[in-house]
Amino acid sequence: TYRGIEAGKVLFLAFPKLHTGVCRYPLGMSGGQIQDEDISASSQWSESTAARYGRLNFEEGDGAWCPEITVEPDSLKEFLQIDLRSLHFITLVGTQGRHAGGIGNEFAQMYKIKYSRDGSRWISWRNRQGKQVIEGNRNAYAIVLKDLEPPIIARFVRFMPVTDHSMNVCMRVELYGCEWLDGLVSYNAAAGEQMSLPAYSAYLNDSVYDGAVSHSMTEGLGQLTDGVCGLDDFTQSHDTHNVWPGYDYVGWTNESFSNVEIMFEFDRIRNFTTMKVHCNNMYSRHVKVFRQVVCYFRSEADWEATPLSFSPVEDVENPSARFVTVNLANHMASAIKCQFYFADAWMLFSEITFQSDTAMYNTTLAPPKSGLTPDTQPKDDPTHKVDDSNTRILIGCLVAIIFILVVIIVIILWRQVWQKMLEKASRRMLDDELTASLSIQSETFAYTHNQSSTTSEQESNSTYERIFPLGPDYQEPSRIICKLPEFAQSSEEPVQDGAPHYAEADIVNLQGVTGGNTYAIPALTMDLLSGKDVAVEEFPRKLLTFKEKLGEGQFGEVHLCEADGMQEFMNKEFLFDIPEDLPVLVAVKMLRSDANKNARNDFLKEIKIMSRLKDPNIIRLLAVCIYSDPLCMITEYMENGDLNQFLSRHEPEGQLALLSNAPTVSFNNLCYMAAQIASGMKYLSSLNFVHRDLATRNCLVGKNYTIKIADFGMSRNLYSGDYYRIQGRAVLPIRWMSWESILLGKFTTASDVWAFGVTLWEILNFCKEQPYSQLTDEQVIENTGEFFRDQKRQIYLPQPVLCPDSLYKIMLSCWRRNTKERPSFQEIHRALLEIQP
Ligand SMILES: *[C@@H]1O[C@H](CO)[C@@H](O)[C@H](O)[C@H]1NC(C)=O
Ligand SMILES: *[C@@H]1O[C@H](CO)[C@@H](O)[C@H](O)[C@H]1NC(C)=O
Ligand SMILES: *[C@@H]1O[C@H](CO)[C@@H](O)[C@H](O)[C@H]1NC(C)=O
Repeated sequence: TYRGIEAGKVLFLAFPKLHTGVCRYPLGMSGGQIQDEDISASSQWSESTAARYGRLNFEEGDGAWCPEITVEPDSLKEFLQIDLRSLHFITLVGTQGRHAGGIGNEFAQMYKIKYSRDGSRWISWRNRQGKQVIEGNRNAYAIVLKDLEPPIIARFVRFMPVTDHSMNVCMRVELYGCEWLDGLVSYNAAAGEQMSLPAYSAYLNDSVYDGAVSHSMTEGLGQLTDGVCGLDDFTQSHDTHNVWPGYDYVGWTNESFSNVEIMFEFDRIRNFTTMKVHCNNMYSRHVKVFRQVVCYFRSEADWEATPLSFSPVEDVENPSARFVTVNLANHMASAIKCQFYFADAWMLFSEITFQSDTAMYNTTLAPPKSGLTPDTQPKDDPTHKVDDSNTRILIGCLVAIIFILVVIIVIILWRQVWQKMLEKASRRMLDDELTASLSIQSETFAYTHNQSSTTSEQESNSTYERIFPLGPDYQEPSRIICKLPEFAQSSEEPVQDGAPHYAEADIVNLQGVTGGNTYAIPALTMDLLSGKDVAVEEFPRKLLTFKEKLGEGQFGEVHLCEADGMQEFMNKEFLFDIPEDLPVLVAVKMLRSDANKNARNDFLKEIKIMSRLKDPNIIRLLAVCIYSDPLCMITEYMENGDLNQFLSRHEPEGQLALLSNAPTVSFNNLCYMAAQIASGMKYLSSLNFVHRDLATRNCLVGKNYTIKIADFGMSRNLYSGDYYRIQGRAVLPIRWMSWESILLGKFTTASDVWAFGVTLWEILNFCKEQPYSQLTDEQVIENTGEFFRDQKRQIYLPQPVLCPDSLYKIMLSCWRRNTKERPSFQEIHRALLEIQP
């Protein structure tokens, strides 16, 4: 589920399909995918502050990496180094100091980054203005994320603390990005030139090139691989960069060259499918897409004799910049040399990407990268594969022999007891089927947990590999960033602004047990809650009659049941609500008996918390069955079902409803229901509970338009379209989620307020339309990026026909970019009570 996810994980989840996705996945310091041996340092203060403790959000050892001696101004001796084992595209870094449960108070106020692709040539990172020093932490606990503009393409990264006075420094870090599937290690070309325009000059040099630059550029990567596409008008640049005209492009003129030769070197021999060149085509300024390109391939020592040539169609109608795709026809190469011919006086490129077959084919041909010292050889270095093959044959033989033996044994057994076997087998198959469908379920919830939680450990360890398919979807990180060019501003925003620092790390994760959540609760509140004992009674299981399945999660299900004799179990305050002697409708959350211990503990915790929630607008826990398995939690259910279905069946009052004879709900009653939701949320937020899935589908309707907020989890088939399924696994209600929940993984009361705005919108539309129904899931996520950038390009949900301006204003205030500017539930509740049609 999307609940209880660390910031990084959501970045991860949020963009899977935007292939795309903005490449901002945590690379494994906090998640543990980076092995201890791949984290090293210049020195360590003690064994318990060794490099391996420099993992973001980890509290092991003494809580961070600390170098041996005090860091002095201007001495750049100390560093924490991470080996990613292969080239990665790194877009974001996170740092944190040493907190160690309050004992530590060391952090790096500033740091620099160095990186290397081969382990020998180290390059100092600078931002687009040439500045090397990055502002770091201000305290020992908060995580500070900084976008790397330009991004880094490297295998090795060093964090080097910098200070302005001598001080003790400790660091925990994380890198965010994705694997660099282009495999490009460097490009060499003639240096870009300067174009004189009537009023000024455009500087078409490669301003972020990280190799040597004199007359030509060698051994580096830069503007052509920074993931930022130039604009149609090359003299303009993305405003955030604050740079000179022509910044995003590298350009050459036919005055100096007959053609431009660019040589591309790759990490190994690859099977190339295409090359995409992002070209400017502003023909009014004599800039055009190249007329022809001729490419030569080198796989071993020599260049192939026959080059490949391609001529795009000349376009003098459309001046927009575009990607020109060159088919590389499955040539095998570790280097490609392309000559681009002029179609006009100028040729301007801003990005070049390569698509190659990333599957493991005969990689033994790949020469080990020069400069790699033996001890930095990647574990999975292709050259090791040779030895592997023998082992594999051996293992293959053994497996075959075992298989034959098994077959023989089976045949013997079959003869003797085939009848029994058959019976058993068929039973087992049934079981397997069940387990299989369950495990699919469980994958859906694999993201539930952070370190503080719950569900099985294996799942978390494998998430990294899993979500990293080397499929074509992930080949072009740069493309996506082209889509979201200025995504990179969050640098000023520490992850946990506003929230108390424990909130993110210590959220007690109660969700996922039944797929329904309860609510996310900061640990402090938990302590308050655990003061008293559970005040709910055991209910005799046999008095429950199953009616319908409402939802389902990793370890459990939610059933709609009738309960006989429930009246005895309910507090007096409920009694007036319920006719005597009739069976009562209840929702029963059930923990499967095969659930693991963690899930059981969580379930019991959930009971404890639910039993404390007492508000007329929150679903109440009525009773439990915990004396025997399966554990059950019996909560109220209301006769009119959920608000979404309820409103879908109804029409606004008016002519149309009269004609169709449909049941109606008056505007006042809509407001009344909305106010009750706000009131319930006011109660939850007063306890610091975050709901995370507020929507009409999670509100129940009783008699006389009474509303109670519930949570059925995300697996109700009826609403599967409301959740964004990531690679068929994690699910997120993205259409209800605030931008910061999607992009930063922050779930707070303010993000509940956002969801409330969407819920209000649903209500005013009588739930006849899904929010943003005209947008695809991917477009919704892109729109989230627009909310983040806040350049007036974001799309808001439109004002519903029925909705007066005053009410729409409330919705809009819920969707304010700045969380602090959103109203509280208290304010919303008050405002709703004052609404007049
Ligand atoms: C590119 O041109 C700009 C503007 O003249 C200059 O400031 C910058 O140093 C140049 N960059 C390189 C890498 O040559
Ligand atoms: C390159 O990839 C294509 C498509 O996957 C495949 O058909 C072709 O055989 C590969 N070429 C080599 C030399 O492996
Ligand atoms: C450069 O291209 C322009 C436009 O095609 C042409 O007029 C000019 O003669 C070319 N210059 C050279 C040196 O080839």
